[in-house]
Amino acid sequence: MPSFAGSLPTLTPRTMGTGGITDPSNLACVRIARAAMDAGVWFHVADYGGGVYAVLKQAFAEDLAHMPPCIVKIDGITVQGFHDSVADCLRRTGLERIAIGQVCGYPLCEEKEALAEALAEMRTRGVIGSYIMDVIFPYSAAVREAVAAHIFDGYIFYLNVMERELSNAAYAQLVADGTPILAMRTFGGRDGANYLKNADHPRRAALEPLYRQSGCADRLEFCVRFPLSLPTVCTTIGSTGSPENLQAFLSVDTAPLDADVVAGIEALHGQWNAER
Ligand SMILES: NC(=O)c1ccc[n+]([C@@H]2O[C@H](COP(=O)([O-])OP(=O)(O)OC[C@H]3O[C@@H](n4cnc5c(N)ncnc54)[C@H](OP(=O)(O)O)[C@@H]3O)[C@@H](O)[C@H]2O)c1
Repeated sequence: MPSFAGSLPTLTPRTMGTGGITDPSNLACVRIARAAMDAGVWFHVADYGGGVYAVLKQAFAEDLAHMPPCIVKIDGITVQGFHDSVADCLRRTGLERIAIGQVCGYPLCEEKEALAEALAEMRTRGVIGSYIMDVIFPYSAAVREAVAAHIFDGYIFYLNVMERELSNAAYAQLVADGTPILAMRTFGGRDGANYLKNADHPRRAALEPLYRQSGCADRLEFCVRFPLSLPTVCTTIGSTGSPENLQAFLSVDTAPLDADVVAGIEALHGQWNAER
């Protein structure tokens, strides 16, 4: 597998996730996408709920001059799946170019050399600029191998105050190598582990002394500043279906937290992962 490492462009510290704008029949979804476009942030794109591509197609068509750079989830299990997923995204969103392809299912690929050729060719044609590996916890060993071989430009996984979806050893290796990380789920996700909405979550209770120590004006700020305090994180990817919450996300302070607070949160992550 040839190396795709080293070509990641500079991202905006905050990336607009699209998990909250899934309904093309709801004009509010298009308006939220347009507001994020106006703010100039990057987008993270997958066709969540089967509706995101249509929402984006409408939003992009309304303001072609401000189409955002997009991180797009693409198939990495088969060469055919890769080509199909890229073509499907371009056709249904109106995007001409994918800034970063998020290669999904790479450890399951049984034709890695052929896939690498397809990735390289798409990059040479200028259709996809960079490649990152989509990571879930069971891929931790595969991440270690890929990092050692410098295969990808970066690695993307859930990384927020509530979770780090990568083994402690693989994470330490990424940090030691200075490999770029794209941190997903700024607020802990849309399920029961959402830090802002689930006041009773035991992890939120464990984080409470660190939140108090952080001096953050509110919990939203704590969520945004934590991932951006980590040495190799280049963006935090959060989502909302609310115009007010989008403005709060886009306007909150992004300065790094104090090192003691960061170390405390990372110690909890280490402990939670060791208990898995
Ligand atoms: N494997 C993958 O590639 C993958 C997996 C998961 C996520 N992602 C990406 O990461 C993005 C973010 O993850 P996510 O959407 O799962 O979760 P998230 O951004 O961590 O959390 C979104 C949730 O937080 C709420 N929220 C946001 N701002 C808020 C505020 N100011 N006050 C109260 N609640 C607020 C949202 O509710 P409201 O809508 O009511 O504001 C929503 O329920 C996704 O949209 C997607 O682009 C990728």
